[in-house]
Amino acid sequence: MQNKVVLITGGNAGIGLETARALAKKGATVVIVSRDATKGQQAVEDIKQTTNNDKVSFMQCDLGSQKQIHQLVADFKTKHDRLDVLVNNAGAFFSAYAETEDGIERQFAINHLGPFLLTNLLLDTIKASAPARIVNVASRAHYRGFINFNDLNYKKNYDGFILAYSQSKLANVLFTNELARRLEGTGVTANSLHPGVVATDIALKESKGIYRLGWWIWKHFMITPEEGAATSIYVASSKDVEGVTGKYFDKSKEKKASAKALDKNLAARLWEISEKLTGLA
Ligand SMILES: NC(=O)c1ccc[n+]([C@@H]2O[C@H](COP(=O)([O-])OP(=O)(O)OC[C@H]3O[C@@H](n4cnc5c(N)ncnc54)[C@H](OP(=O)(O)O)[C@@H]3O)[C@@H](O)[C@H]2O)c1
Repeated sequence: MQNKVVLITGGNAGIGLETARALAKKGATVVIVSRDATKGQQAVEDIKQTTNNDKVSFMQCDLGSQKQIHQLVADFKTKHDRLDVLVNNAGAFFSAYAETEDGIERQFAINHLGPFLLTNLLLDTIKASAPARIVNVASRAHYRGFINFNDLNYKKNYDGFILAYSQSKLANVLFTNELARRLEGTGVTANSLHPGVVATDIALKESKGIYRLGWWIWKHFMITPEEGAATSIYVASSKDVEGVTGKYFDKSKEKKASAKALDKNLAARLWEISEKLTGLA
């Protein structure tokens, strides 16, 4: 990974932090995106100390804010003229309904529209750096997901995990597959993955009740963030994955995504509405 520039969202904690650390260990220039400056700076110091790689920095952005994503991309482009690997890792889980400043349900906004907008705004730089890779951290929760075009916010019938989180993770796989089709012939690949069930704080930060209690108990039996980062690291950096695109990975192996995730019409329809919701149309 020497001479490669990698951007990892949510690189200050959990799976993203361990992915950033591993890619820094391989010699990459690593930029982590964190929504919190203190956490971002602490993660940078931690990664530098444990990898002896000084080419690690952070940029601040709340992926629930489209304005901040535009600013992040503008800042990134002033500092870097290439991007070899983009890891869309940041994700959040909320048990209660709320909307972002853009009027979008938080999980659809942060988990899907944020990476959709970020990726599209960075595509010119990524294409110019080809061969390059886009890695989207989805989840096996996508298997139960359904894109509710009548109410993408699930405002009328909100369930944080079964409906909204699963929808956002299905959107990750659909986005990846449509992106891979659109990038054919450019030398840029796009793949998605399930990291495993990983002992991070994702479902403790912003959730209440049964979800919070259940995660807290279950966490004791989950794989570690280091183990959970293995598939992201593999898809982002392994020679085995060179040229492989439009695939879904689990335990560092290709796996068949759900029938819905493989539906090209669904992916095209989601792309179109995502363009409208992010002002890219
Ligand atoms: N843990 C699992 O079992 C599991 C399973 C399947 C898929 N995943 C996926 O794996 C990815 C990483 O999750 P994780 O388990 O490592 O969780 P985590 O430890 O909570 O890390 C998530 C990262 O995303 C960041 N983030 C959250 N909301 C953000 C926002 N609005 N703007 C910018 N950054 C934001 C977090 O920042 P803060 O530190 O500020 O919160 C953190 O850096 C997610 O996409 C998740 O859906 C996780």
